[in-house]
This record gives sequence, structure tokens and C-alpha cells, in this order.
Amino acid sequence: MQIITVKDQVEGGKKAFEIIKEAVENGASVLGLATGSTPLSLYDEIKKSELDFSELSSVNLDEYVGLEGENPNSYRHFMKEQLFNEKPFKNSYVPDGANPNAEEVIAQYNQVLKENPIDVQILGIGVNGHIGFNEPGTSFEEETHKVSLAQSTIDANTRFFDSVEEVPRYAYTMGPKSIMAAKKIILLAYGESKADAIQKTVEGPITEDIPASILQNHPDTILIVDEAAASKLSENEA
Ligand code: GLP
Repeated sequence: MQIITVKDQVEGGKKAFEIIKEAVENGASVLGLATGSTPLSLYDEIKKSELDFSELSSVNLDEYVGLEGENPNSYRHFMKEQLFNEKPFKNSYVPDGANPNAEEVIAQYNQVLKENPIDVQILGIGVNGHIGFNEPGTSFEEETHKVSLAQSTIDANTRFFDSVEEVPRYAYTMGPKSIMAAKKIILLAYGESKADAIQKTVEGPITEDIPASILQNHPDTILIVDEAAASKLSENEA
């Protein structure tokens, strides 16, 4: 895993953008996108850029179950607000959180992934080491699946909702196997709260208890971290 330490989230967004730009100039046509606060500086760079995304497709990692796409807390809505309204892609896929038929959603999304193999996947990380919504204990062999969210994830995401009761308990997410199929992966992490998860991801054993640790097995993963998120890495790696 290549590690790039940056000053702050703004610089991290610029670095990630440079990597994406180069990939697009070299023919990348499908971007795997993530939600959360972490990728926002990258999305700002994309919005500011002259780069044309109208011939590219995007595939998002995950979506809450039970929220319509128009719901301001749905990830589809988040992506429209933060990126797609200003930088439309040819096609933008997000799992259909409004459909309660998990089997159907899973089959559809696995088909989307088959037809749109991801060239560059953007990832954030949860404080417990989750990627997408793959909570600790998820089999590394999972493709798209329905998950029951960990309490720490529900608590962390409460800030986006009016109350903790409103945070959905379930989500559809690409699985570790779907994420690992991406040609290139950029994992972004900023702030002290991510330091533990980053240390375990990079230096810990590869274990389903830390879903992001699977990235050690990926041939082209770049980790972009600020100093706070890198603070628990052993010196020579930070
Ligand atoms: C959610 C998302 C993840 C994201 C994580 C961290 O759980 N499903 O994709 O990485 O939050 O969010 P943040 O970037 O806001 O810390």
C-alpha cells in the first residue's frame, strides 16, 4: 500500500484528484464513489476542474435501506448535491434503497458492477475500520449485500439526522469482494478519530474484524492521510 501524508483534507482532495485525472486521461471510464464527509474536498476539486466526466460512469458504494432517493439523507441525494448536479456523469449508479426486496437490489447491483468494472474506487473509512457499509465480521467473499449497521456507525452518522431514531438500521453495500475488484483504490482518512482504524488497516493482521485490512492484499491501493490519521502508524511508514 502506498501511503501519502498530506497537510489537511484540502490537500488530500487535490492529491486524490490528480490521481483520478491521470487515470481518466489514461482511459479510466468508471469511478467508484463514496459518501461521508471525507471525500468532499475531492468532490470540490472535481467540480472546479475542467475535466469532462460526461462520458464516464460512477458507481456508488452504498445506500441506506428505507430512504427514497429524494430524501435529503439518502446517499443518492447526497451525491447529487455534492457532485452530480454540477458534474453530471453519463450514468450514476447507487443501490436502490427504496426497494425493500434485498434479493432484487443485490442482483441488480451485482449486474451493474459486472457491466461497469471500476477503474478507480474512492473509499473513506469508519472508526471501526469499515469500508462502504461493510462492518467488522463481514466475510471478505461478500459482493453486494444487505447489512445491519453497527451501533458505532449509527452513532457516527447521527450528526446528519435530526435524531438517532431517524438513522436507518440497514443498508445495501458493495461487499469487500466487489471493492477489491477495482483496478485502483484510493483510501482517504483525516483526523484523529481515524488513527486507530488506519493503524490496524495498514499494520495489523488481515482480518474480517477490520474490513479495510483486506486492502493490504490489493495490488494498487493508495492511502491518503493527514498527520492526525497517520499518527498511530509506525514512524517509517508515516
Ligand atoms: C459511512 C459511509 C462510508 C464512510 C464512512 C465515514 O459509514 N458508508 O462509506 O467512509 O461513513 O464517514 P466520514 O467520511 O464522514 O467520516
